[in-house]
Amino acid sequence: MILRVFAFVWAANLLTLLLVSVLILFVDVTPPQEARRMAEPELLREELPLIHAASGAAGVLTFWQQVAPAHPNVHLDPQVPCGRPGVIGAPGPDCFEVVQISSTDAVVMALRPATLPLFLGICVSAFMAIWLSRWLTQPIRAVSQGLRSLAAGRLETRMQGRLRTTNQEIQDLGRDFDHAAARLQALSDGRSRLFHDISHEIRSPLARLRAAVGLIEKTPARGVALAGRMEGDIARLDHLVDEILTLARFEKSERVNSFQTFDLLDIIENIIADAKFEGRARGIDVRYAGADVLDLQGDPELLHRACENVIRNALNHSPPGGTVIVTGCRSTEAMTLAVADEGAGVPETDLDAIFSPFVRLNAQADSVGVGLGLAISYGAIKAHGGAIAASNIDSGGFQITITIPVDDRSLK
Ligand SMILES: Nc1ncnc2c1ncn2[C@@H]1O[C@H](COP(=O)(O)OP(=O)(O)OP(=O)(O)O)[C@@H](O)[C@H]1O
Ligand SMILES: [Mg+2]
Repeated sequence: MILRVFAFVWAANLLTLLLVSVLILFVDVTPPQEARRMAEPELLREELPLIHAASGAAGVLTFWQQVAPAHPNVHLDPQVPCGRPGVIGAPGPDCFEVVQISSTDAVVMALRPATLPLFLGICVSAFMAIWLSRWLTQPIRAVSQGLRSLAAGRLETRMQGRLRTTNQEIQDLGRDFDHAAARLQALSDGRSRLFHDISHEIRSPLARLRAAVGLIEKTPARGVALAGRMEGDIARLDHLVDEILTLARFEKSERVNSFQTFDLLDIIENIIADAKFEGRARGIDVRYAGADVLDLQGDPELLHRACENVIRNALNHSPPGGTVIVTGCRSTEAMTLAVADEGAGVPETDLDAIFSPFVRLNAQADSVGVGLGLAISYGAIKAHGGAIAASNIDSGGFQITITIPVDDRSLK
C-alpha cells in the first residue's frame, strides 16, 4: 500500500517537474551565465578578425594567450584550413578557428539548463513522496496493526490516540474500531464468566453424586435412601443442560425461525393454573386481568418458557398471602404482558443485571434456581423482536413487563 502511494505521489511530482523543464526549454529561458557562455565564441569570432587585421597572426596569438584563462569553454584552433566560413585569417598561411570546447552535443547543450533543477526536483519530490505516503497510510497501518492485534487475542487493543489525523472519517473509523473491540472484549469476558459459572453449577451436583456413590460403595444398604437424592441431582443436571442449550440457541441465531400464529392467553392461563396450585400452600393468589385475546406470531414453546419463568419468579418471591397479578393488553402494534408481585423486589442498580446468566441476588433464599430463567426469557423475547424490563413498584412490589411487536396484517 505504502509503495503504491509513494509511486503515485512521486510520479505526480516527476510529471510536474518534467512539464516545467519542457516549458523552460520551450520558451528558451536560459540562465544568465549559460547565455554568457554560449555568447562567448560569437564575441571572439567578431573580435579576433579585427585583431588579425591589425596585428596579424602573432597579434592574435598574443591576445589569445592573455584572454584564454578567462574563456575556459573556448579553444583557439591554430591549424585549420583557411577559407572555410568562420575561419579567421584568410587569406594567409596561419588560420584560426574559435571552437567551443564543452557541450558540443546539442541535446546535452539543450538539456543542461534543466538538469540541475530536474535532479534537485527528483530528490526533493522523492523525499516529499516518502513523507506524504507515510503520512497518508499511517491510519490504515495503525488500523491494520490493531486488527492483527485483535486477531491475536489482545482484545484490550484500542485506536484512541493512535490515529494521528484530524480527518473526520478516519477518526470515525477509529471510534468504530474501539466500539467493536470493546464489544468483542465484553462478549469474550461474558463467555469466560459463563463457562466458569456453568462448570461451577455442574460441579456441585456432580460432587454430591460422587459422595453418594462413595457412601453406597461402603454401605450398600443406604443405596435406596440415597437414590431419591441422587435422582434430584440428576434432574437438576438435566434441567441445567437443557437451559444452557436453550441459551446457546439464542447465541446461534438471534431471531425465531419458525413463526406460528397463536393466542398467548391460552399459554398464560395454563401457567397461571399451575402457579395457583403451587401457591395455595403459602396462601398466594395468582390472577389474570386484561384482554381476552392475545394473538400474535411467534414460537409458542419459547414464549411459554419466557412467561413461565417470570410468573414462577413472581410466585417464588411473593410473601405468604400475597397476590401475583398478570396483566395482558394488545394494541395494533404490540402485545404487552406485565407480571406484578408484592415481594421485596430487587435493588435499583441490579434491575438490568438480573437478565444476565447465573445472576441470583438472593441465592440462599431461592436455592432451587440456577439463575438462567430470566436470561432465557430475555433471549426468547429478544428473538421475537420484543423487550423485557424489570421495575420496582413505588407502592411496593416488583414487576416484569414484556412487550412483543405484532403485525396485524400478517395475522389475518
Ligand atoms: N419477582 C422477583 N422478585 C424479586 N427478585 C426477583 C424476581 N424475579 C427475579 N428476581 C431476581 O433475579 C434473579 C434471577 O432470576 P432468574 O429467573 O434468572 O433465576 P432464578 O429464578 O434464580 O433461577 P432459575 O430461573 O434459573 O430457576 C433471581 O435469583 C432473583 O434474585
Ligand atoms: Mg427464575
